[in-house]
Amino acid sequence: MASVPVSPSLPSFLFFFFLLLSPALSQQQASKSRKERAGSGETGSGSGGGGESSSAAAVVPQLNCSGRWIHIRRLPARFNLDLLTNCSEYDLFYDFCPYLSNHGLGPKTHNRSHSWYRTDPFLLELTFHRRMLEYPCLTQDPGQAAAVYLPYYAAIDSLRYLYGPEVNNSMDHGLELFEFLQENDGWIWGRNSGLDHFLVLARPAWDFSQPPDLDPPIWGTSFLELPEFYNLTALVVEERLWPWQEQAVPYLTSFHPPSGELLDSWINRVEASRRTTLMLFAGGGGVSAQANIRRSIRNECENTSDTFESNGGWYYYSKVCDIVDCANGKCEHDPILYMRPMLQSTFCLQPPGDTPTRRSTFDAIIAGCIPVFFEDQSARTQYRWHLPEEAYGEFAVHIQKEDVVYKGLKILDVLMGISRARVRRMRQKVIELIPRVVYRKHGSSSSKGWKGQKDAFDIAIDGALEKIRSRVKGEVEIGDLSSV
Ligand SMILES: *[C@@H]1O[C@H](CO)[C@@H](O)[C@H](O)[C@H]1NC(C)=O
Ligand SMILES: *[C@@H]1O[C@H](CO)[C@@H](O)[C@H](O)[C@H]1NC(C)=O
Ligand SMILES: *[C@@H]1O[C@H](CO)[C@@H](O)[C@H](O)[C@H]1NC(C)=O
Ligand SMILES: *[C@@H]1O[C@H](CO)[C@@H](O)[C@H](O)[C@H]1NC(C)=O
Ligand SMILES: *[C@@H]1O[C@H](CO)[C@@H](O)[C@H](O)[C@H]1NC(C)=O
Ligand SMILES: *[C@@H]1O[C@H](CO)[C@@H](O)[C@H](O)[C@H]1NC(C)=O
Repeated sequence: MASVPVSPSLPSFLFFFFLLLSPALSQQQASKSRKERAGSGETGSGSGGGGESSSAAAVVPQLNCSGRWIHIRRLPARFNLDLLTNCSEYDLFYDFCPYLSNHGLGPKTHNRSHSWYRTDPFLLELTFHRRMLEYPCLTQDPGQAAAVYLPYYAAIDSLRYLYGPEVNNSMDHGLELFEFLQENDGWIWGRNSGLDHFLVLARPAWDFSQPPDLDPPIWGTSFLELPEFYNLTALVVEERLWPWQEQAVPYLTSFHPPSGELLDSWINRVEASRRTTLMLFAGGGGVSAQANIRRSIRNECENTSDTFESNGGWYYYSKVCDIVDCANGKCEHDPILYMRPMLQSTFCLQPPGDTPTRRSTFDAIIAGCIPVFFEDQSARTQYRWHLPEEAYGEFAVHIQKEDVVYKGLKILDVLMGISRARVRRMRQKVIELIPRVVYRKHGSSSSKGWKGQKDAFDIAIDGALEKIRSRVKGEVEIGDLSSV
């Protein structure tokens, strides 16, 4: 078994991460956490199946790993950890070194915070990798595995093509990895033609979808366009309209509770929060004269008087519309700027920007703020595993953007037409979704209080296993996996 070579330039903040990656230690870690789980009478949330019915601590639940074994493919450090050493090297991309701490969760927002971090959503590949190491059904034997996870930091590697010296070679992104997989134990890939492999791409799929022969190249690498990778499953933060190998999973937010108790106490706070603002837009854009949905939102917000006249029972709002200006990435690493206003708002407007969806959609759900979408691509057609498609009408408002931009429909009128009773029901539904979109802190799977509750990671794993199972069996792609 090859061990991960230590890069001489490995910064000290990565050292602990490196230790976890060394084979012997990660094995120990896995078996230790398995023991802890059994000892505490808790079911690992990632375990699924058999043990979840246990309620009494006296019953030691059996993990049922049947059909759920995952093998973590060992990759040389140049495919993951070494890539982090260049975190400040891209002039056209911000320096993300400060956010690598805590295995990619970033520094805590303040010293006494338990659950809130300055998280860079772009680092999902690291946090996902860290969580995989404590997945309860890991196997060293690829022959026994239902799925093979590739701990390749594809989005971080893409920076040298998107912003760096390899901008003219973006059709080559990933070929080095493919070559490695063929030349080292090629049977692991060959066993199922790569259909059982999966990885995480912490950027929208469009950033990896440039046709390899496009001349001149416009934007993005060709990772998802290469026939070499058609067979693997890619978990992305935004998927294309006609996804082949990809599936969208929630953006990484700043909230990572280490225990079920802290999650529950946050949910209590969300439920009790006084909502004094009707609608909120936290974001940038819409400042140019060009007609688009963000421009319309700004206009409507700025023109609405703040002294709200008594109107059909809505008088208890002290503010009709609030804007948190997040231009130039101001809010990116500062959750306090937008979480407080979101806690105080009933509706959070989620207009598309450069891409159809936004991390803010998930911040708002965590704040119990009812999302208002302006196109189906923003969420409904993307996050089928985490946000059940059939439930959209119960937790989200849909207003077609063309009606607002070109037909003069007022968002305010639509939202004011929703009864208070219905608003309460919708908010309850949003709150029920919170655990599904939270990535809990690593090292907390066995801590008390999760009660078998699945988080965004667990649901992503369930979905990936199911998708892989059906692809390996050659079944027709299942469009809706929301029930898994
Ligand atoms: C484990 O799960 C498999 C498939 O879901 C099932 O056939 C088997 O009976 C389960 N085993 C136990 C011990 O529950
Ligand atoms: C880091 O950047 C330098 C300069 O562009 C490059 O030579 C080196 O290969 C990069 N390292 C990694 C691990 O990508
Ligand atoms: C937070 O903790 C660190 C290290 O323990 C310390 O250096 C820093 O001064 C503390 N910051 C505050 C605001 O207390
Ligand atoms: C990429 O190609 C363009 C056009 O041929 C050229 O101007 C540019 O210098 C190249 N960039 C790099 C980093 O080689
Ligand atoms: C992808 O799967 C197909 C059918 O199973 C197979 O013919 C093809 O060689 C696979 N591609 C790669 C790159 O392994
Ligand atoms: C709203 O205000 C903007 C300028 O702030 C103006 O251009 C626009 O016409 C106004 N819209 C309405 C409906 O009053």
